[in-house]
Amino acid sequence: MAIDRSFLDELNARNDIVDVVSSYVPMKRQGANYFGLCPFHNEKSPSFSVSPDKQIFHCFGCGAGGGVISFIMRAEGLEFRDAVQFLADRCGLKVPEDKNADPRAAHRRERVLALMKDAARFYYDTLWKPENRGVQQYFAGRGLTRKTMNRFGLGYAPDSFHATMDAMQAKGYSRDELLDAGLVVRNEKGHVYDKFRGRVMFPIIDVRGQVVAFGGRVMDDSKPKYLNSPETFLFHKGRNLFALNLAKKTQKDYFILAEGYMDVIALHQAGFDSAVASLGTALTEEQARMIARYTKKIVISYDADGAGQAAAQRAIDILKKANLQVNVLRIPGAKDPDEYIKAKGAEAFRRLIERSEGHNAYRLEQIAARFDLEEDEQRVQFVDEAARMLAAIDNPVEREVYAGRAAKMAGVTPEAMAVELRRAAAIRRKKQKTAEHREIRAAVQKAQPRDRALHYDDVKAARAEEGILALIFTDHTLLDDLADKITPHDFSAPVLAKIYGHALTLYRQGAPVAISGFEGYLDDGELAVLSEILSRPPILERRQQALDDYINIMKTRRAQRTSASAGGEGEDPMITFSRMKADKMGGK
Ligand code: CTP
Ligand code: MN
Repeated sequence: MAIDRSFLDELNARNDIVDVVSSYVPMKRQGANYFGLCPFHNEKSPSFSVSPDKQIFHCFGCGAGGGVISFIMRAEGLEFRDAVQFLADRCGLKVPEDKNADPRAAHRRERVLALMKDAARFYYDTLWKPENRGVQQYFAGRGLTRKTMNRFGLGYAPDSFHATMDAMQAKGYSRDELLDAGLVVRNEKGHVYDKFRGRVMFPIIDVRGQVVAFGGRVMDDSKPKYLNSPETFLFHKGRNLFALNLAKKTQKDYFILAEGYMDVIALHQAGFDSAVASLGTALTEEQARMIARYTKKIVISYDADGAGQAAAQRAIDILKKANLQVNVLRIPGAKDPDEYIKAKGAEAFRRLIERSEGHNAYRLEQIAARFDLEEDEQRVQFVDEAARMLAAIDNPVEREVYAGRAAKMAGVTPEAMAVELRRAAAIRRKKQKTAEHREIRAAVQKAQPRDRALHYDDVKAARAEEGILALIFTDHTLLDDLADKITPHDFSAPVLAKIYGHALTLYRQGAPVAISGFEGYLDDGELAVLSEILSRPPILERRQQALDDYINIMKTRRAQRTSASAGGEGEDPMITFSRMKADKMGGK
């Protein structure tokens, strides 16, 4: 990590965890803490807590926990450094240059970014060479204007195994850099050759305007139709959206989510400049959150075929989870938005958007399409399925409205529909209760860290060690004395020893012993252990006494462990056995 400690302290001070978390989940104050629904697992009753005093979050349901940086790492799916950058942007701080970081790493990144840009330029230039009139005509034949082609930086990769490599090496890039960029591939025999050959090229540009990958399409019917850059250190498919760099500047109050490159490009050309696409994969939660940063409303405009519609159903849930208002558009008489616009024009597409339905109406329609509502038996089945879908709607007014619609569709009375709906809702509640209980039981069952790798071998000792950590986080001055009495080696649990050791380091540096100092140092599982310890009610009185008690327990247990491991001499095997059993039950 190696980001200046005092900068991190400043960053933490400026990004209050309650503020930050509140922009993801609504939080309600309850006593000293805030509670809300955990963004990291599915739940109906809030077990996610945030402490403004300790600046930690902790979920009593799934065990996730940490400080504001780890919250952003999880919520935005970022690495430590990127999460720091994210929070710095949020509060207008500038991340200091990392003096200790490997300067080669930053350099390499810059080089490969420059290479990607040069490659895009090369593909672009190639496209406009006179001998590639045919390629230009391909795009023209697909209805693209020169302006659109330039806006998207479209290009052409020569039909050669080394033209791109040669051109880039002539510009001074090394073979390793080309490999890092994913522009060339190495086969089993060790031969290195151009990845993209004879394909029209679509640069994939991140929000910051940097070319991070390419998609390449064949111009005939050969396979694969599209070839995309591999995952590289610059490019993670699930964390990029095609054309987000353009869509983020839109004036429109909604985004359009399409499936393909050409759909997005055709949409932009037709004036729908808020269209984006996930990159040939199922939409990820991260992509949904990226969209939610720029808009409140999204219109799904996937292909008309079965696969497209199934993908839309899955996308609805993911987009809703990011708190987006979701509409679904259906394309009559065409395969995808690109073909529809080409056939019917922009104005017709605008009407489709206007007529796009809320996701509930869409889902009802999808269910209805599977049944013949003229047949009594099938109507009964439709009502049953519709009721189950309706029961999942949280908002009672919304539920009522669509129940009414479903009743009409099935030709039953609203009362009959309401009865079915209540039944479905009861079943659903029961299922959810069981699921939640199971989750909570599993959590309470053990006094063990969730992360199995962090298993406590000696639960009693670990409990005392946790107690010591809780105390020093509440009152750092206890460390004055403690540092001489207890070293990390005295701890039975490696994770607790690691935390204690780092607390000592921070304390000696005069840095605050707080969760902020542990982020980027502990991994997720370790942070969860710490946040769990810190979210227990603090000991307010007779701390020194409590501390001495914990130290005693620790030392006694340690002595017992050493004698036990020395062959168990002096201890009856039966006693050893029952002690081990007691340990397993410990902490309950
Ligand atoms: N895709 C991909 N790899 C493939 C096929 C598709 O990555 N072998 C991705 C591309 O991003 C593509 C999208 O999935 O744009 C949708 O695929 P498809 O519907 O098959 O293509 P279209 O977008 O309709 O492409 P075109 O109009 O150029 O035929
Ligand atoms: Mn298409």
